[in-house]
Amino acid sequence: MLLVAAMVIAAAIFIADTVTQLEIAVAVLYVAVILIVVRVIERKGVLAVAFACVGLTILSYFLSREDFSRSTGFVNCIISIAAILVSTYLALQNRSALTALHESQTELAHANRVTTMGELTAAIVHEVNQPVAGVVANAEAAMRWLEAQPPEMAEAKQALEGIVEDGKRTSEIVNRIRALARKAPPRREALDINELIVEVVALMQTQLQRADVSLHTEFGSEIPPIHGDRIQMQQVILNLILNAVEAMATVDGHRHLRMGTKAIAPGNVRVEVSDLGVGLAAGSLDRLFEAFYTTKSSGMGMGLSICRTIVEAHGGRIWASPNDGPGATFQFVLPQYVKSS
Ligand SMILES: Nc1ncnc2c1ncn2[C@@H]1O[C@H](COP(=O)(O)OP(=O)(O)OP(=O)(O)O)[C@@H](O)[C@H]1O
Ligand SMILES: [Mg+2]
Repeated sequence: MLLVAAMVIAAAIFIADTVTQLEIAVAVLYVAVILIVVRVIERKGVLAVAFACVGLTILSYFLSREDFSRSTGFVNCIISIAAILVSTYLALQNRSALTALHESQTELAHANRVTTMGELTAAIVHEVNQPVAGVVANAEAAMRWLEAQPPEMAEAKQALEGIVEDGKRTSEIVNRIRALARKAPPRREALDINELIVEVVALMQTQLQRADVSLHTEFGSEIPPIHGDRIQMQQVILNLILNAVEAMATVDGHRHLRMGTKAIAPGNVRVEVSDLGVGLAAGSLDRLFEAFYTTKSSGMGMGLSICRTIVEAHGGRIWASPNDGPGATFQFVLPQYVKSS
């Protein structure tokens, strides 16, 4: 779409530059074409378009120079070419800086995911170990049923079905972990946020049990899909749950984690993670989301900063607030998925 617009504009400029006798450098407007194409095509393509624009400017100069003073036309031609070349250079510079920024953000998010996975390793090993133990137990049972005289086929079949179930569960767990640890460029798609929360909670089930945290979810009905990267969104939820669990590690009594989703006008989805932990340190509200801000001896202080980067890159907003009672609540809002034409 943008490319077609750029071509139409270029054609219009060429005609205006060739047939009109304006004493101004009409060809300077080719800069607009460059600024449009730099958003949609690769570096080489942008350079090709820039040289094409320079070529058209020179062509116009030769086609129209009889019409008005030669020197004005020549000066205009030089000004236009300079403007096209300088803006191409600046636009490409700007774009490579942005690309580098995105790449380093992706790297950082990946590093955070891998360290987080490290923290979860014990729990994950436990989670994988359960179905594997189930496979062994079911296989032994199946063998016993088959060795019986006469063989108990129905029972043996049931034990084998148990093996298949456990096998599937193991590979599901492993796939979820692999997806999270993978280093993939962000990819936007329509996501069901409730489903994402269920997936992350499944991954953390053992961790929650060990930390003696009970979880209560309140999924709003008719939550529209959001537009986002599945792994990054899981990372945000994972970081918020981990923080909540860590905040409750030292409190006696109720360790209760509440998660909720809600559709809010206009076309937004709100996610809430609320704990009964130590609460936010006085005066920390402004600093929570800063990189390297941590009050934990083994913390990196990257979790919330990465959450904010991800949420804002998705056009959303994230914030924290102290609870009326004990603990803290973290919330983020994301715009819903809008199907592009
Ligand atoms: N649920 C919470 N309750 C109370 N304080 C919190 C909560 N979540 C975060 N904080 C505070 O914000 C700080 C920053 O959190 P953040 O997740 O960015 O880093 P971290 O948890 O310290 O380290 P990591 O990089 O491993 O996540 C924490 O050290 C803690 O002081
Ligand atoms: Mg954290």
